[in-house]
Amino acid sequence: MPAHVVLSDITKSYGSHTVIAETSIAVAEGQFVSILGPSGCGKSTMLSMIAGLDFPTTGTVSTGGRPVLGPGPDRGMVFQDHALLPWLTARGNIEFGLKSARPELDRAERTRVADRYLGQVGLAHAAHLRPSRLSGGMQQRVGIARAFAIDPEILLLDEPFGALDALTRRELQLQLLDIWEASRRTVLMVTHDVDEAILLSDRVLVMGHGPSATVIADIAVDAPRPRHGDGFDDTFDKQVAGLRHKLIELLGNN
Ligand SMILES: Nc1ncnc2c1ncn2[C@@H]1O[C@H](COP(=O)(O)OP(=O)(O)O)[C@@H](O)[C@H]1O
Ligand SMILES: [Mg+2]
Repeated sequence: MPAHVVLSDITKSYGSHTVIAETSIAVAEGQFVSILGPSGCGKSTMLSMIAGLDFPTTGTVSTGGRPVLGPGPDRGMVFQDHALLPWLTARGNIEFGLKSARPELDRAERTRVADRYLGQVGLAHAAHLRPSRLSGGMQQRVGIARAFAIDPEILLLDEPFGALDALTRRELQLQLLDIWEASRRTVLMVTHDVDEAILLSDRVLVMGHGPSATVIADIAVDAPRPRHGDGFDDTFDKQVAGLRHKLIELLGNN
């Protein structure tokens, strides 16, 4: 069986500027993969090419064994700026996403699914509020709930917690971990947070500096799951201390 997401010998140039060079990545179905790398090295560009919002200059991208020709319902993306529709409520934003992505659901089912995912990210009480009434962290939760409600086979997360304070960030990471551990979708997540990458991932890809950036390390996170719960956090921290050190060194040295 081919891998779920395959980038084959990709290069990506804008004019004479080569952002990504000679990069190949294969992600198995159900794997959670993080991409770490210096700012501007091409991480968002990489996700956009998988999403079908941008295309490689040479090489191919495929998902589920088919070439990516544009966006599709098999892939869902969460952006750093969450991009909610300001005139719809939190619930309305999720229902709106469901309308096109899951046309088999009727109106009542859309509401039920939206409320279930709002509950999972701790926002049941805020379902009726518009984005302008929600904090940044709450808006980000709605974005995550929307992506999970659509339940795409492949979830693409571009620094989903980038703009949040440390406490909210941690809380959302743990919620994402719980939701993912229940659904085991294929996930590619860009982050600049080493601890976040380790906590969530099966595998961490490290990209080097651009121009002509590529993946310079591909590291498995072997710590068992589930990774949090009663008394587990300390054990996990000890297990991954060496890995953490290695990733920080890779990011610092390249
Ligand atoms: N549409 C575009 N036109 C020209 N250059 C672009 C475009 N999009 C991205 N770039 C360039 O590609 C490089 C990688 O950008 P990006 O993928 O956003 O990096 P990252 O997400 O790793 O910070 C940057 O140098 C950026 O200026
Ligand atoms: Mg980016």
